Amino acid sequence: MEINTIGVIGAGQMGNGIAHVMALAGYEVRLSDISQDALDKAIALIGKNLDRQVSREKITAEERDAAMGRIRATLDLAEIGATDLVIEAATEQESVKQKIFDSIAPHLKPHTILTSNTSSISITRLASRTDRPEKFLGFHFMNPVPLMQLVELIRGIATDQETYKACLAVVERLGKTAASAEDFPAFIVNRILVPMINEAVYTLYEGVGNVRSIDMAMKLGANHPMGPLELADFIGLDTCLAIMNVLHEGLADTKYRPCPLLTKYVEAGWLGRKTKRGFYDYRGDEPVPTR
Ligand SMILES: NC(=O)c1ccc[n+]([C@@H]2O[C@H](COP(=O)([O-])OP(=O)(O)OC[C@H]3O[C@@H](n4cnc5c(N)ncnc54)[C@H](O)[C@@H]3O)[C@@H](O)[C@H]2O)c1
Repeated sequence: MEINTIGVIGAGQMGNGIAHVMALAGYEVRLSDISQDALDKAIALIGKNLDRQVSREKITAEERDAAMGRIRATLDLAEIGATDLVIEAATEQESVKQKIFDSIAPHLKPHTILTSNTSSISITRLASRTDRPEKFLGFHFMNPVPLMQLVELIRGIATDQETYKACLAVVERLGKTAASAEDFPAFIVNRILVPMINEAVYTLYEGVGNVRSIDMAMKLGANHPMGPLELADFIGLDTCLAIMNVLHEGLADTKYRPCPLLTKYVEAGWLGRKTKRGFYDYRGDEPVPTR
């Protein structure tokens, strides 16, 4: 089946990136959120990010204008339901996602494929509560979406081959590469990456190193492009905690217990770059470690 129109639900960090790359690839995009403010910010940010690509000569001014022209922001879920492929990229909470799939159900076309950009929640479980588990897939982009090459495609137990192939064709049209993952908690990338971040937080919690030394050690000692705490701030500490909880509950292994210090940062509302404070404080000109 051919995909021409794409509905993106959730206009946060991931949703705006997904709308951006889909529009550049020529898809008609409908972007929605519960908050008009989030939608306004997302459209402004997409414009800014496209401008940056023009100034770096990655795309032309015409391509930018055409992409912006293909994105429509809407608070109306009926418009999202009328698309060929829905990508849910709202907050990483199962109850939030569940409510979204329930509310959009009456608006879906029979052929619409439903997907979630969830970092960790069971695709099979999300799918089982919809009217179309065979047309449900995990469509997991990496952050920042315009820059990262990989997309994980996660089949639930009931996902059919036609749905998988249609989504694979979308990934290819974006010029990205798909990794096929089985539906177990946090899939491939986050199963490996987020416990490493959690271990870095334990290293901080136990006083083995401070924020700067831990990040420097992993950059210079393991050749990582970013330190794990810097990366955690970038991903969002609430998202990291949510993923650890899913691993802990889903795999029933204490090695995945979230570090109490990670929980404390989230309780403080210090969620990383998006709230201007996390393991670093971003309110000044330069990020300053908070420990
Ligand atoms: N941040 C990352 O690095 C990353 C990477 C890959 C996947 N993800 C996944 O992508 C999803 C979104 O993450 P994010 O980092 O963009 O979060 P975010 O907090 O930046 O954005 C979430 C958006 O969802 C909106 N929202 C909340 N409830 C909603 C509802 N009922 N209907 C519509 N919109 C709603 C919020 O208003 C917000 O704008 C999560 O499932 C996350 O696990 C995140």
